[in-house]
Amino acid sequence: MSVNQSIKPITSEVKNNHLIVGGCDTVELAEKYGTPLYVIDESTLRKVCKEYVDAFKAYPNATVLYASKALATSAIFKIVTQEGLGLDVVSGGEIYTAYKAEIDMSTLMFNGNNKQEWELEAAVDVGVGRISADNFHDIELLGKISKSRNKAVNILLRITPGIDCHTHEYIQTGHLDSKFGFDLTQVDEAVKLVTSDYPLITIKGLHAHIGSQIFDTAGYIDEAKILANELARLNKEYSLNLSELNLGGGLGVKYTHEDNPPEIGEVADVVINTLSGEFKNLGLKNIKLYIEPGRSVISTSGVTLYTVGAEKQVPKGAKYISVDGGMADNPRPSMYQAEYTCDAANKMNNPKEELVTIAGRFCESGDILIKDIKLPSLVPGDIICIYNTGAYNYSMASNYNRVQKPGMVLVNNSQSDIIVYRETLEDLISQDNIPDRLK
Ligand code: LLP
Repeated sequence: MSVNQSIKPITSEVKNNHLIVGGCDTVELAEKYGTPLYVIDESTLRKVCKEYVDAFKAYPNATVLYASKALATSAIFKIVTQEGLGLDVVSGGEIYTAYKAEIDMSTLMFNGNNKQEWELEAAVDVGVGRISADNFHDIELLGKISKSRNKAVNILLRITPGIDCHTHEYIQTGHLDSKFGFDLTQVDEAVKLVTSDYPLITIKGLHAHIGSQIFDTAGYIDEAKILANELARLNKEYSLNLSELNLGGGLGVKYTHEDNPPEIGEVADVVINTLSGEFKNLGLKNIKLYIEPGRSVISTSGVTLYTVGAEKQVPKGAKYISVDGGMADNPRPSMYQAEYTCDAANKMNNPKEELVTIAGRFCESGDILIKDIKLPSLVPGDIICIYNTGAYNYSMASNYNRVQKPGMVLVNNSQSDIIVYRETLEDLISQDNIPDRLK
């Protein structure tokens, strides 16, 4: 089974009625580090990285880039790059994190629809390997920056292939009415602009991303065909030597029992077979391939531990169990109606006899983490473990209600290490300023 097809980290087991992850008792982790607590299982993360690298070995020249927007921390960058992945970054902050973690900058690809001038300057200065130009503004800024530094810059052109990938509307990015990338009707103008005005910029190839939490491999087939044909057309019409394709990320994960994402290997096979066929027909050779998965790399490795507090039984209605976190550490249920599953980490073998709703502690009725789930009878102090929270939880967390963001620990072989410190009350006010006239 592919890691993205598992709801829980691969090291999950039950001992003495407790949930164990990475050899660590999650109830002890909750006690030691406090809750809410993000826990990342190193074995699961390394396994999925290996799976990706192995699956794309069948292609002669493929690089897997971890889409760091899913979870960008220094330790995570260390692990994924040790496993041979590069990084897809989308901000000066992600570049800085990678730089300070001493990641090889040439393995970075910088994406985004409104990269700031200082971010592009930083990317060029530290030697980020590829920049995906999303629009004319990017090209003009890069033209200026490359000229002022007399430095060559390698770009891909991000295009919008016009694919509806049947996922939640907010996380579709490759359809035509999208803020991302050049529409297919604008690509020629972009090529002409670069080749005529900016001698230090080299267009290495094309980039697209069709969406996120994708279960249907058909979208990748369409995307691969469109990109391969577009690359061949541009090479022919403009006598270019484009030789790189980046198909983006998007492979889904199994949040609940209803989710059935394809295996990583299946997606790799589909992509490799489609591209090989297209390249042969089009007479293209030695095309480098990038893919940039985020969620499917990190999601399954992560769980979040919460402590049960108040409960409310609505007369003739739902039973709410409130935990000490919620929409500020996991905004996905309230933003996307995302569904998760959980266990009572200290009552793993107890019969699941109560239908409850897991509510967050934030001041909004919509702050519900899981609606209607069967769990053992719970009391204050019990530990809830929500699975599959590695992606887009910490990275989208906020300080709503002035609540400190949770810490994160890495577990492996019965050892736990902090990789992100829990915020303190001091951290919360550290950026505040009281002007003199208010004192
Ligand atoms: N490449 C590009 C250009 C992207 O825009 C994205 C995600 C990825 C790669 C990685 O996609 P993944 O493999 O993680 O699906 N916050 C949302 C997801 C937003 C995804 C944005 N772009 C969520 O929590 O579901």
